[in-house]
This record gives sequence, structure tokens and C-alpha cells, in this order.
Amino acid sequence: MTRSPAASESHAMRVAQLENVKVRFGKGNNAFLALDRTNLAVNPGDFVAMVGPSGCGKSTILKLVAGLLRPTEGNVFVAGREVGAERIGIGMAFQNPTMLPWLTIRENIMLPLKIVKPYAHTFARDKRTVFRDRAEDLLAKVGLTGFGDRRPWELSGGMLQRANLCRALIHSPKLLMLDEPFGALDQFTREELWSVLQELWMETMPTVFLVTHDLREAAFLASRILVMSARPGRVTEDRAVGFTRPRTLETTFEPEFAELTNDLRRMIVEARQI
Ligand SMILES: Nc1ncnc2c1ncn2[C@@H]1O[C@H](COP(=O)(O)OP(=O)(O)O)[C@@H](O)[C@H]1O
Ligand SMILES: [Mg+2]
Repeated sequence: MTRSPAASESHAMRVAQLENVKVRFGKGNNAFLALDRTNLAVNPGDFVAMVGPSGCGKSTILKLVAGLLRPTEGNVFVAGREVGAERIGIGMAFQNPTMLPWLTIRENIMLPLKIVKPYAHTFARDKRTVFRDRAEDLLAKVGLTGFGDRRPWELSGGMLQRANLCRALIHSPKLLMLDEPFGALDQFTREELWSVLQELWMETMPTVFLVTHDLREAAFLASRILVMSARPGRVTEDRAVGFTRPRTLETTFEPEFAELTNDLRRMIVEARQI
């Protein structure tokens, strides 16, 4: 078989790669270009934040990488394979934690282990031992020791989002998709959770795609920030963020931090006026 080794190697090294991707919704007069010719290469351990006005295609990119949506044109590769060929471990968390109310917090967190390979086939055996330990370990890391037996309605929004992060990470995903996970939380809780997420990420270094409206959140957490604009959706800026880790709230008071968030704000305002 003749295959370009250079091309396949570059795909293999990347966690995710979008090549000339277009996504069009609807047909004929109703056709709508949600994402224009997008090229993107994400390496293992990248923490990518996506910012931009509502409707610019942030969630569309998440769905493409997760294999929930096919591109209209172009190619999407994840872990070196075209999406859909073979799934790699993906963890997800959204703005609404959607815990199942009839299960305890621990059972909710362990749910992915019941569903995804290779854990599912030993779930019945391991749920009271190693899987339970794994859940307890994560609960401790997010500051929820002792809350495993509670039901979701007994926890505050911030606590539920902590549990949500545990559930997204319980199966040690290589790829973590976060769509405005802290969007519904108050500023103080949100800033606490930035540090929690940073710590979790620094431990196993999964590749992260984080969608957020909060530019300080993007600057605090990300190693790369994609700025997007709408109509048609496209990436207009790909900015490396080099602040040393672990970043703290002190980092956010540095002049370079304010400079970065001001730059981002200006780019988004400009993009909205086009
Ligand atoms: N399944 C769909 N059918 C039609 N239009 C869609 C669909 N999903 C998203 N869109 C449109 O595509 C654009 C990008 O959506 P999305 O990626 O969700 O934006 P956001 O950046 O706010 O996450 C929006 O204008 C949205 O209305
Ligand atoms: Mg969205």
C-alpha cells in the first residue's frame, strides 16, 4: 500500500486534527455555513480554550472531535484515525451537570465505567473495590470527601460541577471536552474550580477542549486560545499562553494577564462588527 508516511505520522502524533473542514447545516436557501474551512492541529496535553461570540461554531468543533457530527467537507482525525473508525477515551462535561437523581453522587461518577470499554465488562466485579476507590480518590481531589453517598439534590451547583469533573475523568480519558462547564456558577465558585481543574489536568495531562465565554477563565487555564468569529464560523486567532503553572489567582493580577484578556476582548468585539 502506498501511503505518505509523513502525513500518517503527523496525524498519529496529533490528538485531533481538522483539515479544511466545513460544516453546513440545512439545504438550499436554508443552507447555513456554521464552520468555514477550518484547519486545526491539537497535540497531546494541549489545553485548548475556544472563545468567540455565540453561534461561531465552538460547540460544532467539540462535536466534530467527539465524533458526534460529520464534516460537510474536509477531514477530522482523532488519535491519528478518521473520526468514527475507533473511539479513544473521551470525557465530557457541560454547563448543566445532569446527574441522575436516583443515583448517589458516587454512582453517578462511576457511570462511565459501567458504559465504556474496557471497564464495562468488569464493572460488576470492580464497582465495590477498585472503581469505588478511584471515585473516592477523585472526590477527595475536588474537595468532596464524604459526599459520595449523597444524592445530587443535596449538593450546591458548585459541588455538582466538582462531581461532574470527577465523572468526566473517571475513565482516564485522553480527551476532555468541556462546554462552558462553569458558566452557571458565581464568580468565586468559578475561580475556585479553575484551580481544581488545573490540578486535575496537571496530574494526567489529558488533551482538553474548553469552550468558555469567560476570557479570564481561558487565560487562566489554557495553553492555547482559539478566538473565533461568526457568519461563517472560523478560527481567527490561535494564541499560545505561556504563564507558568500552577497558575494562581495572583497570576490574574499580572500585567501580561490583563494584556492578554484585553487583546482577546478586542478581537472578539472586532469580529462581531464584521
Ligand atoms: N443541528 C443544527 N442544525 C442547524 N443549525 C445548527 C445546528 N447546530 C448548530 N447550528 C448553528 O450553527 C451555528 C454554530 O453553532 P454552535 O457551534 O452551537 O455555536 P457556539 O459557538 O455558540 O457553540 C449556530 O448559528 C447554530 O445556530
Ligand atoms: Mg455552544
